[in-house]
Amino acid sequence: MHESIQDCITAINRLRKERRAVILAHTYQPAEVQDIADYVDDSYGLSAKAAAVKDADLIVFCGVQFMAETAAILNPGRKVIMPDPSAGCPMADMITAEKLRAFKAKHPGAPVVCYVNSTAEVKAESDICCTSANAVKIVKSLGDAPEIIFVPDQFLGKFVEKQLGRRLLLWEGCCPIHHNLGSDCIARMKAEYPDAKVMVHPETPPDAQAAADYILSTGQMIELVKNTKDKRFLVGTEDGIIHALRKAAPHCDFILISPTLRCPNMKKTTLPKIRQALASGETVISVDPLIAAKAKKAIDAMLEVSRRP
Ligand code: 13P
Ligand code: SF4
Repeated sequence: MHESIQDCITAINRLRKERRAVILAHTYQPAEVQDIADYVDDSYGLSAKAAAVKDADLIVFCGVQFMAETAAILNPGRKVIMPDPSAGCPMADMITAEKLRAFKAKHPGAPVVCYVNSTAEVKAESDICCTSANAVKIVKSLGDAPEIIFVPDQFLGKFVEKQLGRRLLLWEGCCPIHHNLGSDCIARMKAEYPDAKVMVHPETPPDAQAAADYILSTGQMIELVKNTKDKRFLVGTEDGIIHALRKAAPHCDFILISPTLRCPNMKKTTLPKIRQALASGETVISVDPLIAAKAKKAIDAMLEVSRRP
């Protein structure tokens, strides 16, 4: 028999209580998934939330693998499950621990900053993690180190270079979703909506960033619009954010700059898969304890620097 969405939500609500589960969802998740989550946030907010989980036995992570891995690394004694554990991130797979070791060998002594969009093995080879919300602060915290390695997102790296007026040793990875957003596309949309402000994610290429009014992580976009006097925004990041933005600022108009801004991995989570994962508890995300212990040092270092005023 076909189950209604409401039946599915009722079952999820019963199971989350029985299992003492907390449901975390990234801002790129489908609208109906964001709506049933306990917390919706960007990668940094979800890492901080995962680190602070206390009164739950189970974390249900609605996002992609690297995010659930981060939650598992920060909660060694707690079970972390994903509704669809096949949801990966192509950018995270653009560098391996072996390739990073070879890069490090060419630049002895250079500290490694690793975007959280990376595997646990790559984090374990890094000194400190960052997210798009804190990358500038994290690199700045390394002071005047003559060389700093930054992996795997070259565009976030270039954004940091510009903000700090210094060069980094960049890896040539990128997000295949944000990569295609060009300034030509922004110009076309600006011509159609001349009154709109443009906000893009730092995973977009430099020409898109140069054409934007704001370059922000998804969490920062939500904070911005809560207090804005502007009425209309052209949005250059994954389309799940539109739902979160509309909830945060119902009085504003949010328009996705391009229909190509859709991450298929982020859309793998569905309500029936959440219900099934809660019922079976089987889709567990686990990380080798030795790798996890090393990776945790890099994530903890990020959380510590981020909390500084
Ligand atoms: P945020 O850092 O804004 O969460 O975006 C990162 C991202 O691309 C998640 O896949
Ligand atoms: Fe990875 Fe890009 Fe999808 Fe984020 S939007 S999960 S960086 S592929």
